[in-house]
Amino acid sequence: MTERPGSLHATALSRTYAGVRALEGVTITVRRHEVIGLIGPNGAGKSTLVNLLSGFDFPTSGSVMLEGFDITTWSAHRRVRSGLVRTFQHGHAFPGLTARENIEVAALGTGAARGVAARRATELLELMGLADHSNAEAATLPHGDERLLGVARALATMPKFVLLDEPAAGLNEDEISAFADIIKLVRDERNAGILLIEHNVPLVLGVCDRIHVLDQGETLAEGSPTEIRNHPAVADAYLGATAG
Ligand SMILES: Nc1ncnc2c1ncn2[C@@H]1O[C@H](COP(=O)(O)OP(=O)(O)OP(=O)(O)O)[C@@H](O)[C@H]1O
Ligand SMILES: [Mg+2]
Repeated sequence: MTERPGSLHATALSRTYAGVRALEGVTITVRRHEVIGLIGPNGAGKSTLVNLLSGFDFPTSGSVMLEGFDITTWSAHRRVRSGLVRTFQHGHAFPGLTARENIEVAALGTGAARGVAARRATELLELMGLADHSNAEAATLPHGDERLLGVARALATMPKFVLLDEPAAGLNEDEISAFADIIKLVRDERNAGILLIEHNVPLVLGVCDRIHVLDQGETLAEGSPTEIRNHPAVADAYLGATAG
């Protein structure tokens, strides 16, 4: 598949760590206004792929294109300023800053003026259901809220593409359903392309336009939620293992 405007596109990405093949020849496209689910068992290479797309690590081979530019060697910071941002599986907020300050810092880091950063923080605290925790230090937040703060910090940079590494881990069922609405809103109102790593199968099937399945570093399947649900190899490798 060739690069198109309005997309984040990786071709044949591989990453080897001292002989361990974390990722092998993975090609994936995320278009704006689209939610792509990235699923697979533990160790499948999901976080590795997000690291390579976001510039927190670099591929052994393969390329990453952002809206027509080859960004394979770009720093993470340069990617953020170009509209590509990610969240982390294990918190990354500044622990001693409040939730509000964490969001403001993220906005300021991409060049927003103080007043703009403050307005974005107010709006995002509200959107993520964190308004009551505005002045709580990030380190004191429950695990689920810490993930939501990570998403708020990512959105504060006004991204075109957002890569979310297990953002809903630690949320209860009601919170997950609210989170699904937030994802759709970011897609529909901000016209963002979203890559969602998630182990919660109902959330993935409910919110994603397409799903990409990794297994042992390789692409096992790609397709619509219906296609993926009915894919025998996926059921064996992943869905079956977690269902029930
Ligand atoms: N920095 C690293 N050094 C060495 N090996 C690594 C490194 N990062 C990842 N790996 C290995 O690469 C493989 C893929 O790991 P990765 O973290 O991408 O999986 P994942 O799909 O995100 O798993 P999980 O669902 O547990 O988060 C694993 O075998 C892992 O041990
Ligand atoms: Mg991971």
